[in-house]
Amino acid sequence: MQNDIEKILISEEQIRNRLKELGKRITEDYRDKDNFLLVGVLKGAIIFMSDLIRHIDLPLQVDFMAISSYGASTESSGVVRILKDLEENVEGKNLLIVEDIIDSGLTLSYMYNILKSRKPASIKICTLLDKPSRRKADIKVDYLGFEIPDYFVVGYGLDYGEKYRNLPYICVLKPEIYQ
Ligand code: XMP
Ligand code: MG
Repeated sequence: MQNDIEKILISEEQIRNRLKELGKRITEDYRDKDNFLLVGVLKGAIIFMSDLIRHIDLPLQVDFMAISSYGASTESSGVVRILKDLEENVEGKNLLIVEDIIDSGLTLSYMYNILKSRKPASIKICTLLDKPSRRKADIKVDYLGFEIPDYFVVGYGLDYGEKYRNLPYICVLKPEIYQ
């Protein structure tokens, strides 16, 4: 796998430090709220979510949703389908959506609207990565790990063709891999 990597964009140490800060902020912001539910978006957010919750010093629940967006492998079409729904009833709960990356924002905007229609007490968005230059949907990110330029990145949960999720950092692959 190492041979496929062009460059590391965000190191393990940078991720670790940023997650500590995010966890601290989230802990402060949700301290006085109960029914705190983190909604992880499968599969990309699994590693981010599992590391992040260990920096949140509050009672919380986790649940997961899997959605697929149709279209080319490195681009989302905005047509989204629920592959796996939540197990929890979200009515009256304080939801924090945990995503790996926001690109066009179409996937998240769709999911946000579905969750909102289920009458939670609040919904906020936490994403590890953001590529604001490609945004098509209007999305307010409440907690951001890192803003990145328009590269297709992998590692730390993010995949290309289901590979590279287990790399411990965020990186860009060599151009020939994407062909
Ligand atoms: P949209 O465009 O709807 O897309 O915001 C979000 C979803 O697209 C995937 N995505 C990526 N996956 N590296 C990845 O591994 C990337 O650079 C990338 N950009 C978008 C991802 O699944 C995300 O949830
Ligand atoms: Mg994703």
